[in-house]
Amino acid sequence: MKRITIAIDGYSSCGKSTMAKDLAREIGYVYVDSGAMYRAVTLYALEHGLIAPDGTIDEERLRAAMPDIVISFQFNPERGRPDTYLNGVCVEDRIRTLEVSNRVSPIATLGVVREEMVRQQQRMGQEGGIIMDGRDIGTTVFPQAELKIFVTASAEVRAQRRYDELTAKGEACNMEDILRNVEERDYIDTHRDISPLRQADDALVLDNSHMTIPEQKQWLLREFERVVNGGKSGMSGDSKISGLSGTLK
Ligand code: CDP
Repeated sequence: MKRITIAIDGYSSCGKSTMAKDLAREIGYVYVDSGAMYRAVTLYALEHGLIAPDGTIDEERLRAAMPDIVISFQFNPERGRPDTYLNGVCVEDRIRTLEVSNRVSPIATLGVVREEMVRQQQRMGQEGGIIMDGRDIGTTVFPQAELKIFVTASAEVRAQRRYDELTAKGEACNMEDILRNVEERDYIDTHRDISPLRQADDALVLDNSHMTIPEQKQWLLREFERVVNGGKSGMSGDSKISGLSGTLK
């Protein structure tokens, strides 16, 4: 069976990575979390003093450092998903802090960072059989992807999910800070000059505000099967989804 490319884009904290990694496991595809790559670059910049306390980025030094930033993934069977490595060191936990979340979107606006990340992502997807999630996967990284999904949910629902995730890990946080971060990143991600977050014309839209994880998983699996069985991708997301279930938008 043909191994296709699946692009999942959408707003921050809307559960893209959960659905992507679950489907990858189910169908034996590689899962790549492209946001983790931008987070790893941000961690590098923070740890090397390339971001001033007021948020100013030393772009010249970051440009010079890019060849020294090597990002890779290794599947972690305990978590059932890949861990992110920065220069050979596992940084999975350190890239998920609110400190990194607060700095990542400005880093991700920089052309020098995006060019290098997109190059690495395209190399990872050369053979097909890949599910990648992010902001520009269906528009810039894999515009030829056979299945494109654009995920969205209300900012409040997304902030609550992120809050639950961080508190479960024992990280002290409060809802207000998280909601502000989610809204700020949405704004920066949709307004930047290079590859802003937007729905690809041929993407299916999924509003998962009121969906459970199993419902979402089932929906995605069905769309995957439809595409590999020769169904057409690129139908209007809203009309397609409303026909499937009362819980979907
Ligand atoms: O997990 P969450 O949805 O909160 O974010 P993420 O996927 O880890 O991505 C972190 C940040 O990286 C985003 O807010 C974007 O600013 C940036 N990003 C991007 O610009 N392009 C991508 N393909 C993926 C992430």
